[in-house]
Amino acid sequence: MSESAGRSCDAMVVFGVTGDLAHKMTFPSLYRLEEAGLLDCPIIGVALEDWSPEQLHASMKEAVSADEESVDDKVLQRLVDRLSYLGGDFADQATYQELAHRLEGCSRPLFYLEIPPSLFATVVTQLGRAGLTEGSRVMVEKPFGHDADSAKALNAQLHQVLDEEQILRIDHFLGKQPVLDVSCLRFANTLLEPVWNRDHVAAVQITLAEDFGVEGRGAFYDAVGALRDVVQNHLLQVLALVAMEPARDTGSDALWDAKTEVFRSVADADPADCVRGQYQGYDQVPGVATGSDTETYVALRLEVRNDRWAGVPFFLRAGKELATRTTEVRLIFKQAPPQPFLQLSDEARPNQLVLRIDPDPGMRLTMLSKAADGTGSREVNLDLTFAQELGRPPTPYERLLHDALTGDRSLFTREDAVEETWRILQPLLQQPPAPTPYPRGSWGPEPADGTGEGHLPWQTA
Ligand code: BG6
Repeated sequence: MSESAGRSCDAMVVFGVTGDLAHKMTFPSLYRLEEAGLLDCPIIGVALEDWSPEQLHASMKEAVSADEESVDDKVLQRLVDRLSYLGGDFADQATYQELAHRLEGCSRPLFYLEIPPSLFATVVTQLGRAGLTEGSRVMVEKPFGHDADSAKALNAQLHQVLDEEQILRIDHFLGKQPVLDVSCLRFANTLLEPVWNRDHVAAVQITLAEDFGVEGRGAFYDAVGALRDVVQNHLLQVLALVAMEPARDTGSDALWDAKTEVFRSVADADPADCVRGQYQGYDQVPGVATGSDTETYVALRLEVRNDRWAGVPFFLRAGKELATRTTEVRLIFKQAPPQPFLQLSDEARPNQLVLRIDPDPGMRLTMLSKAADGTGSREVNLDLTFAQELGRPPTPYERLLHDALTGDRSLFTREDAVEETWRILQPLLQQPPAPTPYPRGSWGPEPADGTGEGHLPWQTA
């Protein structure tokens, strides 16, 4: 464990503070932490722009007002009072000398890099040169690499200056309450724990469907595509939580050992089991290259080759401009043995357990029951909305910022896990199947709808 692990930071430095992410996510999250009394350090925003402190304060106020239903002026003022601004080039040593000057007396700063990944190594190297990394933590935004080799190279660059314990790689899905709930649901419920395996589960489907496109971020998205944007990180992280064995203790490393073990058991993805799609009109979006073959939809089948899951397909799909917005995990159980005396309807489906991640987090269990009029069976749902039962959880960024400030690394991805996720997808990056066009508002290209040996139809109801 590094010196800094587990101890609260005494300053926070946000690189890229004038950017979109700071405006949309960081400022509102900091406000909520301030409101909850969980902030107690100065915050320095760094960016290239020549902003005055007043401009930064105005930007923060606007961001918070846009996000919160009602803003407490005293809380907002306390937050503004913490915030100062440093304009400077990220490659210029003078920026870091000034930063060192401003951080005098601080020994445990948190550096948050909300900047393009191509600048991570530059900033970290400069922080090291300025003598600012000892006792610090460095939090980096995704994407972490763009394939297996670049992720390894980036890890190696960061490790020249930082220990692994100092690096906090963000995947905001890990801060979502229903994603955190997967382990509790699985391991703390006697009804579920014994059936969560190949003896009872026929297939697992993990979906991230969005009913909007990439307007406003065409240039970023076109260089990335659905596989890198959300599958390598968010969906594989969810898969690991669904598939892992219980962690051996409460430590962050025990959790990451359990998750990494799952990734190691996942066979390399096979391009024959992958469908890529692109919504019609995608290449008209500003920033997208004409004739681009970047995928805005991807569906793939993976195998977790271990004792618990051998033979159970894991289907992952993600897409933009689809029929609806929904992020969910769906376990499709095996069909119960036929019982002629029950006179079930022909279309009786096996039980399904749906964990809704977004929107409206909750859980649904589909069961079979006799129809009241005696005409066969009916599917009925046991439905639960978490917010009604459990209250409002912190937002993912609120949770992750707090964990970063207090030194809890459990929800930040570990080096070996990240490298494994890239390894799994590498064949699809090297030999991407051609993308099939699909209409906006559909469920993606036809071939993903369940053809192919062993593919179950995607369940969407
Ligand atoms: C981001 C992706 O990481 O996750 C976006 O870059 C995607 O393209 C988003 O829309 C989905 O996350 P959420 O929390 O908005 O469902």
